[in-house]
Amino acid sequence: MNARSTLFCSLTAAVAATGLGLWTTSAPAKDQPAPDKAAVERTRKTVQMLDDVYKTAVVLITDKYVNDEADFPAGSAAIALFEAIGKKGWHQARLIDLTGKPYEPKNVPSDEVEKAGAKALNAGQATYEQIVYKDGKPHLRVLTSVPVVMKKCVLCHPHYADVKEGKAIGAISYTVPIE
Ligand code: HEC
Repeated sequence: MNARSTLFCSLTAAVAATGLGLWTTSAPAKDQPAPDKAAVERTRKTVQMLDDVYKTAVVLITDKYVNDEADFPAGSAAIALFEAIGKKGWHQARLIDLTGKPYEPKNVPSDEVEKAGAKALNAGQATYEQIVYKDGKPHLRVLTSVPVVMKKCVLCHPHYADVKEGKAIGAISYTVPIE
């Protein structure tokens, strides 16, 4: 197995780990009725599926198409995809930095949930979850960790080389309606 496929496998392992039930739950806002448990569980499963699809796509694109710093990064493709899917009204997703050195200043934890999630992920938690209410409707907010999975990531994010293997350098932040 060469270095690249070892790194690829480590992503598969990281993604599989999030699928194995390392999810943390938090109580819904006090002044709101608790959403239906089965609906929360369905939404959680949807987020796990989205997370696998998005992360697998980023690794595939980086592996096959990104060979130097001038190439269109999979991270930028993911951000464009998140925007398009958000506009269609399915769910919201953001790719954010956890190292304190984002490539783009806008890609940082930006609200209370993302800030609390960033803290939890930086402390080693694999995911962070909260139920929130938007316009009176329950939504599941989830942050999942993005580890450095390939040597190629360092092409454009040189400081990732100093990050301990397996540690999260970023997160995907999801907001998905609970239905
Ligand atoms: C070809 C250059 C390039 C490569 C290779 C690359 N990235 Fe990025 N990355 C970028 C750019 C540019 C952005 C900002 C995109 C935007 O905001 O539109 C970004 C954004 C990000 C972000 C959001 C936070 C931030 O720093 O702005 C994360 C997390 C991230 N990349 C992780 C990775 C990982 C993990 C890999 C390896 C699988 C990787 N990147 C490979 C160029 C790259």
